[in-house]
Amino acid sequence: MKRFFLFFTLIFFGAYYATLAQNRSEFLLEKNWKFSREESPDFMQPTFDDSKWQTVTVPHDWAIYGPFSPNNDMQNVAILQDGQTKATEHAGRTGGLPFVGIGLYRIQFDIPQFKKGKRVTVLFDGAMANSQVYVNGKKAGEWPYGYNSFHFDITDYVLEGQKNTLAVHLMNRPEQSRWYPGAGLYRNVHVIVTDPVHIPVWGSYITTPVVRKDFARINLKTKIKNADKNGVYILETVIKDANGKHVSTNKVNLTTYDEGEFEQNFVVLNPVLWSIDNPVLYTAESKLYNADLLVDTYNTRFGIRTIELRPNDGFYLNGEKTVFRGVCNHHDLGPLGAAVNNAAIRRQISTMKDMGVNAIRTSHNMPAPELVRACDEMGMMLMVETFDEWKQPKVANGYNLFWDKWAEKDLVNLLHNFRNNPSVVMWCIGNEVPEQANGTEGPKRNKFLQDICHREDPTRPVTNGMDNPGAVTANNFAAIMDVAGFNYRPHLYHENYKKLPQQLILGSETASTVSSRGIYKFPVERKSMVKYPDHQASSYDVEHCGWSNLPEDDFIQHEDLPYAIGEFVWTGFDYLGEPTPYYTDWPSHSSLFGIVDLAGIPKDRFYLYRSHWNKKAETLHILPHWNWKGREGEVTPVFVYTNHPSAELFINGKSQGKRTKDLSVKRDSSANKEAEKTFERQKRYRLMWMDTKYEPGTVKVVAYDANGKAVAEKEMKTAGKPHRIELSVDRTHIKADGKDLAFINVKIVDKEGNFCPDETRQINFKVAGAGNYKAAANGNPASLESFQAPSMRLFSGQLTAIVQSGETPGNIIFEASAKGVRSAKINIHTK
Ligand code: GAL
Repeated sequence: MKRFFLFFTLIFFGAYYATLAQNRSEFLLEKNWKFSREESPDFMQPTFDDSKWQTVTVPHDWAIYGPFSPNNDMQNVAILQDGQTKATEHAGRTGGLPFVGIGLYRIQFDIPQFKKGKRVTVLFDGAMANSQVYVNGKKAGEWPYGYNSFHFDITDYVLEGQKNTLAVHLMNRPEQSRWYPGAGLYRNVHVIVTDPVHIPVWGSYITTPVVRKDFARINLKTKIKNADKNGVYILETVIKDANGKHVSTNKVNLTTYDEGEFEQNFVVLNPVLWSIDNPVLYTAESKLYNADLLVDTYNTRFGIRTIELRPNDGFYLNGEKTVFRGVCNHHDLGPLGAAVNNAAIRRQISTMKDMGVNAIRTSHNMPAPELVRACDEMGMMLMVETFDEWKQPKVANGYNLFWDKWAEKDLVNLLHNFRNNPSVVMWCIGNEVPEQANGTEGPKRNKFLQDICHREDPTRPVTNGMDNPGAVTANNFAAIMDVAGFNYRPHLYHENYKKLPQQLILGSETASTVSSRGIYKFPVERKSMVKYPDHQASSYDVEHCGWSNLPEDDFIQHEDLPYAIGEFVWTGFDYLGEPTPYYTDWPSHSSLFGIVDLAGIPKDRFYLYRSHWNKKAETLHILPHWNWKGREGEVTPVFVYTNHPSAELFINGKSQGKRTKDLSVKRDSSANKEAEKTFERQKRYRLMWMDTKYEPGTVKVVAYDANGKAVAEKEMKTAGKPHRIELSVDRTHIKADGKDLAFINVKIVDKEGNFCPDETRQINFKVAGAGNYKAAANGNPASLESFQAPSMRLFSGQLTAIVQSGETPGNIIFEASAKGVRSAKINIHTK
């Protein structure tokens, strides 16, 4: 491993940023796209009449508008991975939304910067899926994989001084996915105009081969396109710090021996390192001269940091041991579907940071550039993934259809797109691919992909999410990886470790605990794959899948095993599709795995992770709620999630005793069925009162520090009659750019302000002023309500409504009303 990563001094942000010199300009194609789901053979022709088509704004996900139906991509299959042996009808596996079929997009646009001799490139951040791209009626290119970014030089097809027509044909197949993939031009489309001689898309690669306290060495490689053999080309680069101050410069001539790539070296004195708490970014601003004529300007944003793997020890960021407190996330943004939105992405990252998360795995595909940029800026590490499947299918029409022709191209695009981003600390080349058990082809394919990563980016380790430990430790599959990533089965970590040359174990996917926000099941027992008539799972956080476990089963490994380098929990947020264990139980259509629900509202589990992972903030959380009409006198356990070591519980003023986290519980002693039943591992991380009986009134918890001093308390009361709606918003000031979003929490409280936890009342929304209503979600995985209708039922007393700014600054007034309770209004300012 040291071969590659002895000192991963690295860096980066990649993408070229817009538009500085007049030689280069970049714009997005966002508004006034025309869209249809009907096949038209001539749709790409400039003269085609699209006046009857729908007008849409990109990013656009056509399928999120529904309606839900069990017949949307009904998959009559046996999910082998999940241990199923017979085919059954999986209704909501991919979300029950109408994403299968074709989608046609057309846009007519000017390119004022285009003159004869200039070059024009179109860059898609992602298009779902099987895109065929036409410019002015001519085919410009195609890209099958819906998650990847790709670009084409369209100079030969564009017209000077006239409207140009860009037309995109997309097609989603049934059984192409194991979750909701989204549909359409769901990410941004860029047009880039340059001089003939220019720096191409993703044309720079920056690394920091040496990082010391007092200086860092920076290496920048920059490609040049369309250079003339006899030309004189000069690249002048300035490194700027986060305040724009010039900290280093370099000027270099292209020689015959450079093979079309400039190489520059810099020294930056007293570098400020990129870290999770202080994500400092530098920019390399490059100017390309053709003799003394400026022909291009190109910015590469990067960070200075080191990453390192130490056998039997762990992962080090800037020389500091850093355990991955990670989550896996799918790409959908709940009620917004797959359509990329910066505000929604940043809200997810903030929520995760508050929980103490330091890393996100982009399961199981290439992320949106917006996510990677936000992680660079907000201080979140990324494990960037590529594929859920290689050549051997998991779903009939998955990536196996593309593997032979596209695997290398797809991987190279990903690496070039994101190898300058400091947040990216690891590549993940697969997830539970069936090739694990194929001792002949599996290790070869694994090495093939890993070698491409090393070739294009020798600075980062590569992993793979493996769920077949028996096979991968017996064939070469696990041994060749830089980092062996295991999905689930933490009880086998030690056995696997003994066979692994790397002497490190990553929990590439963990937990898959299931729960529904605000829903509690009795009696409180640890259960696997349990189903209930309401299609929910218990928020006591005691239920999991056949292959998975509870959070503490992972905590204990990563705390106690010196070679375990951290975990990525399945999942940070609920997502559309995979309503396990309700595979066949329509109307279930979205996951129950999330620590946070589909509406972005934390479940109880959030506070369990937060109490263990966020060492800087106080956590003191009581569950369940305390409105149990009909359970009077019945055993109703109370759990407290806190970072404090002990707490005392009071019900209506009467002490229920003090509990202290039991640090004597160890990995081995708690690895048996009996210990599972008696929640031994949970006792080390949660405080549990298993015998408390429900009586209406007040539940109070007092937390004590290690010296027995009372340091915090929290109280919860049985709510009375629902009285009024209460609103709160994540941001009261948003940008008037027509894209920014405010997320409004809607709940009902009684006269005294106590939260009414079992309210399911229908709430109606009105939006007036400088914005519009966008969507809502309530986190109920079995709700078939439209995300876009301005009305929704509360689920466990809450929901989230989303409003979007217009382009004129002003005030947005959001109003929520419901029968039988007082309505509420909230103001959001846009500027
Ligand atoms: C894993 C898989 C994930 C998801 C999860 C559910 O095996 O990698 O994509 O399906 O199981 O527990």
